[in-house]
Amino acid sequence: MSSARKTPARSVRARVPARLLPKLVLAHAYFDTHTRDLTARKSRTVTATSRVELKRELRDADAVLIHFTQKADAKFLDQAPRLRVLATFSVGLDHIDLNECRRRRILVVHTPGVLTRATAEQAMALLLACARRTAEGDRLCRRGRGWKAAPDFMLGQGLQGRRALIVGAGRIGRETARLMRAHGIRVELSGRGDRELTAKLKRAQILSLHLPLTPQTRHWLDARKLRLLPSDAIVINTGRGPLVDETALGRALRSGRLFGAGLDVFEHEPRIPRALRELDNVVLAPHLGSATLETRRAMARLAVQGALAVLQGRRPANEVSGDGR
Ligand code: DGY
Repeated sequence: MSSARKTPARSVRARVPARLLPKLVLAHAYFDTHTRDLTARKSRTVTATSRVELKRELRDADAVLIHFTQKADAKFLDQAPRLRVLATFSVGLDHIDLNECRRRRILVVHTPGVLTRATAEQAMALLLACARRTAEGDRLCRRGRGWKAAPDFMLGQGLQGRRALIVGAGRIGRETARLMRAHGIRVELSGRGDRELTAKLKRAQILSLHLPLTPQTRHWLDARKLRLLPSDAIVINTGRGPLVDETALGRALRSGRLFGAGLDVFEHEPRIPRALRELDNVVLAPHLGSATLETRRAMARLAVQGALAVLQGRRPANEVSGDGR
């Protein structure tokens, strides 16, 4: 046997010069901070936050990661003639013209799964705050005028045994149902084309919305459906603002036909109608459904992983399928 030492076979991957790497544009500095280890040596990564910077950087971009407040319509896509993949920092897709992306053969990736728990928790936080009048109590304490505990002082609702209807039986809807059941709430789910919807609405003391926003679901909760709810009902919306007719909701709340509402999303964000802001039985949150440290980081990483997979000719696990789900 030869004593000569064999040189171990080395899989030396030649380093691709940076200028030859595909270009990935990130529309927020947060994305870069949390994904630098993923993009290193895989893409030429540029952060472009202003409109002017984006316009300049998109010209030769192969991929872009946008935020859910940015519209990706034909005008936006016109600025990126080489784009192969559009990644969005959201599970929701209503800000993206999917048909236009399809027509241009641009693949869309999003962030399903990683934000399910956080969003369901936010639905529960709003529900508990409404039922126990937490925000109202907080405002009262801060006013510093003093208050007097009494047997009938600021009574809220107990959740044990209440009936809830979850509209939209996707991941977040189902997780919210699970968390509600842990609180002793009796939960019904409603999916597309539910023939028993009217009956379910009539017994829904809690209504939680988890539908995607489409032309068909715009103003899903309108004056007619609001009238079907029991008078002590609580409405929760962590889906998308336009699912609810805010004017009708404001009227129902003001007239005392509902116990309260917990809203994380609004029709024309960041504007919130005064009618809702002035009501004590409304708990408001500035679109924080997925806003936890862990979740937002996971969203950035999943979106970038999806974009890189496309750039490397692989099929991403988080690709948006045909009907935008
Ligand atoms: C989404 O993912 O669609 C949320 O609205 C943002 O976290």
